[in-house]
Amino acid sequence: MPKTFYIETFGCQMNVHDSEKVRGMLETRGYSKVPTPDEAGMLLYNTCSIRDKAEQKVFSRLAGLKRKVGGKTVGVLGCVAQHNGEDIFDHAPHVDFVCGSASYTSLPAILDRVEAGESRVTGLALDTDETFDVPSVERDRPYSAYITIIEGCDKECTYCVVPFTRGPERSRASESVMREARDLEARGYTEITLLGQTVNSYRDPSPAGWSFARLLDEIGRLPRIRRVRFTTSHPADFTPDIVQAIDRNESLCDWVHLPVQSGSTDVLRGMQRTYSRDEYLRCIDMLKGADRTIELSTDIIVGFPGETERDFEKTLSLLDEVQYASVFSFKYSPRRGTAAAEMPQVPEEEKSRRLLVLQEHQRRIQLRRNTALIGGLQEALVEGRKERFDQWVGRTTQNRVLNFTDPSGLAGERDLRGRYCQVRVTASGPNSLVGELADAVSQPGFQGLHILN
Ligand code: 5AD
Ligand code: SF4
Repeated sequence: MPKTFYIETFGCQMNVHDSEKVRGMLETRGYSKVPTPDEAGMLLYNTCSIRDKAEQKVFSRLAGLKRKVGGKTVGVLGCVAQHNGEDIFDHAPHVDFVCGSASYTSLPAILDRVEAGESRVTGLALDTDETFDVPSVERDRPYSAYITIIEGCDKECTYCVVPFTRGPERSRASESVMREARDLEARGYTEITLLGQTVNSYRDPSPAGWSFARLLDEIGRLPRIRRVRFTTSHPADFTPDIVQAIDRNESLCDWVHLPVQSGSTDVLRGMQRTYSRDEYLRCIDMLKGADRTIELSTDIIVGFPGETERDFEKTLSLLDEVQYASVFSFKYSPRRGTAAAEMPQVPEEEKSRRLLVLQEHQRRIQLRRNTALIGGLQEALVEGRKERFDQWVGRTTQNRVLNFTDPSGLAGERDLRGRYCQVRVTASGPNSLVGELADAVSQPGFQGLHILN
């Protein structure tokens, strides 16, 4: 019987990329990926535990499986696996193995044991196995690639489960990062996103001793890599040389994601974020002083323990001051084992109210800012298609979603995915732009523009 697997991924880009690594590893072992659980001999869930809702989603998915799994093997991977460990078997007895995000290199050994008929197999070591140099990664998109440069996290934010689920911070040797980047370039990838929980805390552990800015410079210089992104940055490690590297390298995208979490210094102190509102704003000033216009996005938690109405208003005023292009906002969710879970909590209804107020506040900012882009030209890297609207879905260097039509009449005949297109913006909403393809379309892998015939 052919060995097949289905994998569902929850959570962040780190998890998305981990699933690509797992896929590569399994395909090397003769498994093939199938698009639905019904066709698969093995079901894998790569899980997220950042907030309670994310974790509940995983458990309800597992509960829903109970009656259907039949002879299938079921594995739980990722952050819930790491955080809940063997307890998962008690919740969901039809699970055969759990494997945390730091243990993917032991997956083949785990599978050997499962294939030999063992049940309740675990791989939960936190920092022993390196997952950087997996021999083969099967990426989902042939033009855009993630590269992990740093794993884990050494910050001690009082709300966050990540240090428990992904272990201590480990940077990857610069030579290994460059090898992967050059290989991707040679295979036709044109966009690279460097990944890490605190990506800019990167410090090359090899004798070369590169800083994060040096790594950006070197990747930014690869001639056929047209866009370089990095995420997520921590404000405390956001040094001026990073902005200088952006200035020097046009391929470094005009976008930085810099989570602030709160606009109140008191709340930031409770969160142990290690910077004040003013220090964060100095970072923003530095980015606003860059040669190109760097768009900013952020993460915000509302209703952190002890957050008063005044604190919350400071977050709203910070949004006014920074003028982010987008904001990911969340209600604080207590996580087992974290310091903030033990602090006096803000009532649920109050958290919900603040979230709505914040989202409406930011929606207006985005609507106004996106409207100002109407009439202009933007370059979009095409990522997909919305058949129903006859639109291509692209992303600008500033990380805005840009949906556009192709008025040339060739829409049905050419696949624009992976191509860089010049698009005239014709309309906008709070979360995306709408446009029309202008006349030139660039070939992937080239810096210049080429007309397609
Ligand atoms: N509750 C709510 N949001 C959280 N985040 C991290 N931990 C929590 C939590 N316990 C948010 C932060 C982080 C983003 C990935 O998720 O804003 O930047
Ligand atoms: Fe979720 Fe954090 Fe794990 Fe990413 S690292 S999957 S956000 S818990």
